[in-house]
Amino acid sequence: MSQEQLQQLKTRALDEIKKVSDQNQLQNLEIKYLGRKGELTKILRTVGELPEAERGKMGDLANQVKQVLASEIGRVKKSLSEKGAGAVEENEWIDVTASKVKDGFGHLNPVSKIQYELEDIFSSMGFMVLDGPELESEYYNFEALNIPSWHPAREMQDTFYVEGDGLLMRTHTSPMQVRTMEKYGAPLRAIVPGRCFRNEATDARHEHTFYQLEGFMVDKNISMANLKAVLEVVAKKLYGPETHLRLRPKYYPFVEPGVNGEVTCFLCKGKGCRLCKNIGWLEIFGAGLIHPNVLKAGGINPEKWSGFAFGFGLTRLAMLKYGIDDIRLFCSGDIRFLNQF
Ligand code: DAH
Repeated sequence: MSQEQLQQLKTRALDEIKKVSDQNQLQNLEIKYLGRKGELTKILRTVGELPEAERGKMGDLANQVKQVLASEIGRVKKSLSEKGAGAVEENEWIDVTASKVKDGFGHLNPVSKIQYELEDIFSSMGFMVLDGPELESEYYNFEALNIPSWHPAREMQDTFYVEGDGLLMRTHTSPMQVRTMEKYGAPLRAIVPGRCFRNEATDARHEHTFYQLEGFMVDKNISMANLKAVLEVVAKKLYGPETHLRLRPKYYPFVEPGVNGEVTCFLCKGKGCRLCKNIGWLEIFGAGLIHPNVLKAGGINPEKWSGFAFGFGLTRLAMLKYGIDDIRLFCSGDIRFLNQF
């Protein structure tokens, strides 16, 4: 090989290196020229066989070419990996005088808004705010809440069972009643907002994933009067001071007595309208005095302590408050929906 040919090899190699667009191509070139059987390596090996007069010059030149190629490959390698990490390439440029593109700020989901509002109201009354597991045991979701496996109330909650070990996706936030009693004992005040799941055929009013907010208080001599007093404060804070609250009997296995909580419709102030279906009242929670069996399951003596519990449908509250008529929008991830709140 002549010096001229060596120069040509250098030019060709540099040219090819300049054109690579990823690490793979670059590696192939590295092998092609500098690898054990690479073109340049072969030349370097044969330098020793040259006549003495040429040997020195060719050797120097070949080594020089090797260094130039190696350093160019190193430079491109670095630039490619920086580019991969989002860095600006040398030949790209930034116009620092350009006006900034307005970043869209994210929006809270309307359910989160209601949740934070309720968290503020309840914490101002001394309630802890707790989180509970979404993957729950059959025991806490049902048994501990006075719903044994034969109980027809299980049918009211279509359940996603998870294979193995009596696990399911919680159908309500109520399981946290017993978990919290076990952990903190009495007296106790806590709320638990969170995601719940039911095996529903979805439509505008039914969704497999929705939000509830559970609350409970255990202390000496707790009665329905305490329940009503606390929830009346909440209703007035949520919907204004003119709001009334009424409790009507309803069966839930984990409370006795059990009630439905209804507030005067905030849209028509109780006169009757489309929102309240002309009834004047909106049902917003289930509640009652905690059943002695549930207190016992939580390790609390029902002879000494009593308590009330309630469960708000957070998703339902958001639908009512913002006039949202399709529950499926909440978890749709559609930014056009969220942008409205
Ligand atoms: N867990 C009930 C449900 O999902 C709601 C509920 C009703 C919670 C009464 C309570 C309660 O704490 O006392 O339908």
